[in-house]
Amino acid sequence: MDKIIMKGGHRLEGEVSVSGAKNAALPILASALLADGKSIYRNVPDLADVKTMLKVLGTMGCGTGRLGGAQSDMCEVEVHGPITPEAPYDLVKTMRASVLVLGPLVARFGRARVSMPGGCAIGARPIDQHLKGLKALGADIHLTEGYVEATAKHLTGGTVNFDVITVTGTENVMMAAVLARGRSVLENCAREPEVEELARVLNKMGARIEGAGTSVITIEGVEALKPVEHAILPDRIEAGTLMVAAAITGGDVLIKRVVPEHLEAVILKLRETGCTLTTGNGGIRVRAPQVLHSVDVKTTEHPGFPTDMQAQLMALMTVADGTSVISERIFENRFMHVPELHRMGADITVQGHTAVVKGVRTLSGAPVMATDLRASASLVLAGLRAEGKTDIQRIYHLDRGYERLEQKLSALGADIQRVKA
Ligand code: EPU
Repeated sequence: MDKIIMKGGHRLEGEVSVSGAKNAALPILASALLADGKSIYRNVPDLADVKTMLKVLGTMGCGTGRLGGAQSDMCEVEVHGPITPEAPYDLVKTMRASVLVLGPLVARFGRARVSMPGGCAIGARPIDQHLKGLKALGADIHLTEGYVEATAKHLTGGTVNFDVITVTGTENVMMAAVLARGRSVLENCAREPEVEELARVLNKMGARIEGAGTSVITIEGVEALKPVEHAILPDRIEAGTLMVAAAITGGDVLIKRVVPEHLEAVILKLRETGCTLTTGNGGIRVRAPQVLHSVDVKTTEHPGFPTDMQAQLMALMTVADGTSVISERIFENRFMHVPELHRMGADITVQGHTAVVKGVRTLSGAPVMATDLRASASLVLAGLRAEGKTDIQRIYHLDRGYERLEQKLSALGADIQRVKA
């Protein structure tokens, strides 16, 4: 297993470009199932999760691959000939977002058999809202042998009021509704930019979706969709992570290929810490202050502060002046980075959904273990600041969602390298 070895204390400076968004790429790749023919996507990040989604589509019988070699950002999915509408346990257990094939499969092929995702490191993460939505569109849902089986001769438009705001749930039901007969109204939807991006792609394919990006989405079902060519939007969480990297090292970094409007809550929080942030020309420049101030944060659905940035902001708060209260409202178990940050000298107390972080003068490098994707990012950030050597094991978690992070940081001046096992 690869690991990361780094030495902290280097100020980051320069320019860095953000890759395509993982959480937009995953549903968009799944949406290729909705049309016969070849869809081509650009700005697809080279990540373990993207590979898993391509594998899921490949086992069903789709043609998938990178165009122009492994390092290229272009990817194709071809749907042609018979499809086995099934996502097996072995793949779903490695990536719960595989469940995103459920909606497209039942809408297009009338049948889907998808392994039920279990709990995961950050919480129980049920999919009851995905199933509720599909049922409202007329799908029969059964749970057998650990698999969700959804069948429908034809889906019909319906009204779905989500009890919980769910990103992939909104996406799954939206992908089902585009081929349902008649009009669907989805209420209490997730408003994340990735939901909006998926709707943009589906509309390019011929769907009739309005309201994506707001909490009510209206969809007029159409008979068929056509394949698409699309460049995926930049990853706001990678951008946010790089912004914190600049802040925690006392740096000055221009982060390019970002959509600042997608990062408003993060930008405002970083300004509160004393950082100077300027936006323009598709970039955000972050200049760290002499002294970082503590800020309180509560994670909420978009446009609030994203749960996917909570661990990174906590790393920053470990070295800020004062005490910060961080409250995690989306997932019940997303503080797994805390014991690892303790090993580096952080002063954090967790009580239920809240972590109280008292800033310390210095962190010290230590051997630590990545436990989930964003937790891994927080350890890298702490390692950038810590005195001495930090050794991060189990970085396959990091590889699920960050494309060549160590190379990007190293180009900005960090002393960081991946060591192949
Ligand atoms: N929930 C339910 N029932 C459902 C669905 C969700 O109770 O049917 C609950 C969840 O347990 C959670 C909350 O609703 O407490 C929100 O979960 P959501 O469904 O929105 O999460 P998700 O769609 O599974 C996506 C991202 C996550 C991100 C969350 C929240 C993708 C592929 N994943 O997950 O990304 O944290 O939204 O913004 O889009 C990451 O990239 O590190 C990551 C975990």
